[in-house]
This record gives sequence, structure tokens and C-alpha cells, in this order.
Amino acid sequence: MADPGGGAVCNGTLHNQRAADCHGGNCWKNGVVKEAQQNGNSNFCKPFVESFEEAPLHVMVFTYLGYGIGTLFGYLRDFLRNSGIEKCNAAVEREEQKDFVPLYQNFENFYTRNLYMRIRDNWNRPICSAPGAVFDVMERVTDDYNWTFRFTGRVIKDVINMGSYNFLGLAAKYDESMSTVKAVLETYGLGVGSTRQEMGTLDKHKELEDLVAKFLNVEDAMVFGMGFATNSMNIPALVGKGCLILSDELNHASLVLGARLSGATIRIFKHNNMQSLEKLLRDAVIYGQPRTRRAWRKILILVEGIYSMEGSIVCLPDIVALKKKYKAYLYIDEAHSIGSVGPTGRGVAEFFGIDPRDIDVFMGTFTKSFGAAGGYIAGRKDLVDYLRTYSHSAAYATSMSPPVAEQIIRVMKLIMGLDGTTKGLQRIQQLAKNTRYFRQRLSKMGFIVYGNEESPVVPLLLYMPAKVAAFARHLLKRKIGVVVVGFPATPLAEARARFCVSAAHTREMLDTVLEALDEMGDLLDVKYSRNRKSARPELYDEMSFELED
Ligand SMILES: Cc1ncc(COP(=O)(O)O)c(C=O)c1O
Repeated sequence: MADPGGGAVCNGTLHNQRAADCHGGNCWKNGVVKEAQQNGNSNFCKPFVESFEEAPLHVMVFTYLGYGIGTLFGYLRDFLRNSGIEKCNAAVEREEQKDFVPLYQNFENFYTRNLYMRIRDNWNRPICSAPGAVFDVMERVTDDYNWTFRFTGRVIKDVINMGSYNFLGLAAKYDESMSTVKAVLETYGLGVGSTRQEMGTLDKHKELEDLVAKFLNVEDAMVFGMGFATNSMNIPALVGKGCLILSDELNHASLVLGARLSGATIRIFKHNNMQSLEKLLRDAVIYGQPRTRRAWRKILILVEGIYSMEGSIVCLPDIVALKKKYKAYLYIDEAHSIGSVGPTGRGVAEFFGIDPRDIDVFMGTFTKSFGAAGGYIAGRKDLVDYLRTYSHSAAYATSMSPPVAEQIIRVMKLIMGLDGTTKGLQRIQQLAKNTRYFRQRLSKMGFIVYGNEESPVVPLLLYMPAKVAAFARHLLKRKIGVVVVGFPATPLAEARARFCVSAAHTREMLDTVLEALDEMGDLLDVKYSRNRKSARPELYDEMSFELED
């Protein structure tokens, strides 16, 4: 296979090490190390460390056995429900529609009814404070085995928040630093009451768009009221019938929906795997469209900056080299990476030292690092002008609320140092330090931790659903709030806890969490790693992240 860009070694990305094929870099079993080297026009030369350790065989066997037993009991319970012996609380077909094709019955529905319901108390917990480093959780109980919940009226105060995407710690309750947001609220109010193309384009939107373009060092940007819709409504404006989308298998649902709505042909490549992507690109160029063999009208590669369930970072230098080689377009979703990676928080292009002009479409959201709402598309002026006319979001969706726009402006100025301080930079550095500390301590304890050592999204593998539930329940008792995820958000046997590290976490908070996790790991026997040493901690020079104030 051709080595794109001459010598990049992200090739053969290693989800669970199934496709371990490192070109010229170091490759470890059980803790894969990949190093991206000088690549094409990229000056990226620091270590690129990602770990996807496979679970021991016995863990997989017990995990599938657990699902098997749960499924058997599920069938038994369904039988009892169908025979009227047990009350069925789930959505069922109406009697008068019984000859219709079923509206609800599918595997996910069976799984939801019989497996998810048993552990459902760990999800959708209402919060009654700002999602800061600590937050307040409303206490609730169930009288019918998780089918319904009842609030007790009590509040669990000061729970350490390890789950919100509050990477820079800027999703906090009101303080004086937000006075401009208050002023905008007083001047403009909350609602806009119109779309961008009608009466909903405010001077605040224009100010924000200019700032986003400046921040990303691109020609222009457009902002939208919702991050999810930024993907799902703009991808169909860019590609359609006769076009080909090459999509990473772990792309977010909003990208998947946008791709499907576009009507373009979609082909999936293995997560971050350059051989898989290059094969699809080569086939697309050689064979063209099915049957007619005409050339594809456009080829669009869809990737994310940081993958929100794996904590991995896109192999951008290699992807840029491939897209240039095969003359494809690149669309990158920076929902999790904007503000959180790169020396000044400019995302993965800055992280790898890639020229922003090499990326055709930058997409990102303001819901994570910016503590606000909405999304953006940025890039060349003609691209953005085109979307201002053709995007469904521009034509049919009410535009962003002005105080939200002002919160984003405030945070972006903070990150860029336009407020005259280095407070934004300090937060970015604090996040980087907290991330490395948290990841390395977890790896040393013996947990299987996925992803890139620089990713503040930290998935800790638990595998067995019963352990997932016990893990989250025990931690909440110790006033630690965590997000646990399983199928269908992850592969069936790869349930996990997904921590989001924040710059707002103090060392004491992280130590409290780590201590609890250490105990929990022993109690539940989930320290599955065979490689207790952190993946190459010696590569980090902590001082290199210290900036002068
Ligand atoms: C990669 C990615 N893209 C898009 C979105 C949707 O963004 P929002 O939640 O701001 O609507 C998310 C949400 O988490 C995401 O992870």
C-alpha cells in the first residue's frame, strides 16, 4: 500500500488491535503506541500515543455469557408478559393494529425492555445546578423496577462531575465575568423569532462569525443554533446523489444522519484506519459509480477530531495526505476537540500543525469547551456563502439566541487572549495536565483505558453490564457522578464508563475520584489490563506545557 505523505505512521489504526499494522512506528501489544512523524506539509513530530488494549479472553466469555443469560430471562419475561402473568409497561402494538407490520418490535426494543430496564437508574438523572466541576443531583427512587421514577424531594449536593463536556470549566453559574452576557440579554432578549434568511441575522451573529473565522484562521464561518443540526442539515447541502461519502465507522449520529439525508452513497472505513480509507478511495477512483462507472461527482471524507466514545484523535496528517492524493474533500467535526486540544485550543489542525487550508470543511459545536449551545461551519468564503443560501438551517431554523452568541464570543476572546489576560491559555494547559494525570493514574492502577493520551475524553472499559450498573451506583453513593455507556452507543461487549476531564477539576477532586476508582476496581474486579504501566508516560515533559503568565 502506498504510504501517504511519505512516512506518516498513523496507518493501520488499531481499534482493539485487530488491525495492528504500524508503519515504521512503535507498536506495542496491549497498549498500542503510534507515532505520527513528519508528514507531507505537516510539521507534526511529537508522540501520538493511543491505546486500545484487548480484554482478556475470560472477560469476553463472561460478558457474552452475561448477555446470554440476560437474553434468556428476557424471553422468559416476554413470555410471562404476553401471557398476561406479568404486567407489561413497554410500548406494545395496539390490538386493532395487530396485523400491521410491527411499529416497535426489534432487537433494540427487546434489549431496552429486558436488559437496559434493569440498570436504567444510571441514566437520565436530573441535575439541578450548573454542570461545573461539582453539581447537584436530584434524588429519585423507583417503585416498579426502573419503569418509572419518583423524586424524593432531596438533592444530592456537591457531586464531583466527571461526565459533562465542560472541558475548559466554562459552563458555570453566573459570575461577574459573564456581565457581557447579562448585558446582551438585557438589550436583545432571549429569542430571535426568525431564521437567518428572514429577520434572524443579528449583529451579534456577524460578530461571532468573524471571531470564529479569526480563531480558526480561515476565511469565513457561519453559526447555527444547534450542533447536531449543523451536521445533519449541512452535509445534505454539500453532497447528494452521485456523490460518495467515506465515513469513519465511529462517527457521531449527527454525521451519520446528515450523510443518510444527503442521498449520497455512503461507504464506511474502519476507525482511524488509513489502509481501509485508502482502499475505499482507490476503488472509488478506479471503479467510479456502480453500474454506470461514471466518476463520482464528489468524494467527501467525514471524520471527527476526538471520537467521543473512544477518546481517540483522528490521524489528521495521513487523512490530509490521502485526500490530496485522491482529490477528495475533507469534513472534520471538531465537537470535542475545539478548545480542548492544540497548544492554544484551536483543535486538531493546530495539534498536528496542519495548515487550515488543507481542510475543506471545519465543523464544531459550542456545547463543550464553550459552555454554550450551537455549532459552526468554517472554511473558504465561497463554501460559507454557499451554505448561507442553501443550508436548511439557514432557511428553516430559528437562529442562535443572542446571549448564547455572547457567551461564545466571551469564551473565544478568553481563549484567544483578547480579554488581555492569559486565563484562557491557563485553562487549556490545566486541562492538558489534568488529562495526562488522570489517564496515567488509571492506567497504572490496571484499568483498560482507551484512546489518546492527550484526549480529555477518557473511556474506562467495564465490559459486563452488571458491573457497569454497580460501578455507577457505588460511585454516586460516594458523590461522584459518572457517565456509563453501552450498546448501542458502543459495541455490545464493550460497555464502559466515559469520563470527561475538565480544567475546573482540582488535583484534590481528581485524587478523590481516583481513590474511589481504585477501590471500585478491586471490589468489582475490573482492573483487566495486563500492562499496568501507563503507555509511555516518559514521553511527557510536563514543563513544556507551562506558559508564562
Ligand atoms: C462529534 C459530535 N458532533 C456533533 C454533536 C452534536 O452537538 P450538540 O450536542 O452541540 O448538538 C456531538 C454531541 O455530542 C458530537 O459528539
